[in-house]
Amino acid sequence: MSGRPAIGVFDSGLGGLTVLKALQAALPSEDMVYLGDTARVPYGTRSAETVIRYAQNNARTLLKTAPLKLLVVACNTVSAVALDTLRASLSIPVVGVIEPGARAALAATRGGTIAVLATAGTTRSGAYASALAGLGFTGQVVSRAAPLLVPLVEEGWLTGEVPTRVVERYAQDLPTDTDVVVLGCTHFPLLRDVVQAVVGPGVAVVDGAAATATEVKTLLGDSGSGAAPGRLRLLVTDAPEQMQGLGAVFLGRSLPQECVEAIDIEMTA
Ligand code: DGL
Repeated sequence: MSGRPAIGVFDSGLGGLTVLKALQAALPSEDMVYLGDTARVPYGTRSAETVIRYAQNNARTLLKTAPLKLLVVACNTVSAVALDTLRASLSIPVVGVIEPGARAALAATRGGTIAVLATAGTTRSGAYASALAGLGFTGQVVSRAAPLLVPLVEEGWLTGEVPTRVVERYAQDLPTDTDVVVLGCTHFPLLRDVVQAVVGPGVAVVDGAAATATEVKTLLGDSGSGAAPGRLRLLVTDAPEQMQGLGAVFLGRSLPQECVEAIDIEMTA
């Protein structure tokens, strides 16, 4: 990768690739470096203190790996508890996914309940309800922790009976006036079709990936537009072969072997 500053992106694992895909679609000439902390996934079941520490490790690792112009926290759990800490400690803009997800939900609701499927950490934080209130939403917001969906996605179990039963269980007691389900974990858009089939066609199923990419594009302006296609590096803290295989499925294109690198976060952070 050239010496020009890249966009840094991180998540606990492979789920943040759903945000990376939207970023690449919106900003095709930007260089991007993605870090999936696959050695320590999941984050959603951990305490806020631990998630903040992991987030700082990840940000420092990315900054040592490449010059960065902006950092995207492609993880709702980290965005819910660590965004302020990261912003206070870094000199580059830091963009999270919760506020963009809330904006997507607000655009889709017709006045019913907004239901958020998320990790336990995001649910506990109340971050979506706060973000929606901050945007002026006065209706009901309910949040359901759906932690089993994270390992299903990391395993590539994206269709069929098992994910369907799990989603049915998590969605079983949603209020009857629910008109929006927010996929409040960056892993969950990989299960969008399953969620949509369970909640039915009358409910909008949304996530914050596209709105996050729009926010990044607005912050960066036209930088890099018209240039050659941006380059991509994918860093993982464990199991690079999983990123090589599933990463291609998530991003919808084949990945050259050399763009996936295993790194030791302890050594670099
Ligand atoms: N993809 C992450 C999120 O958006 C976290 C999943 C996990 O590690 O538990 O919350």
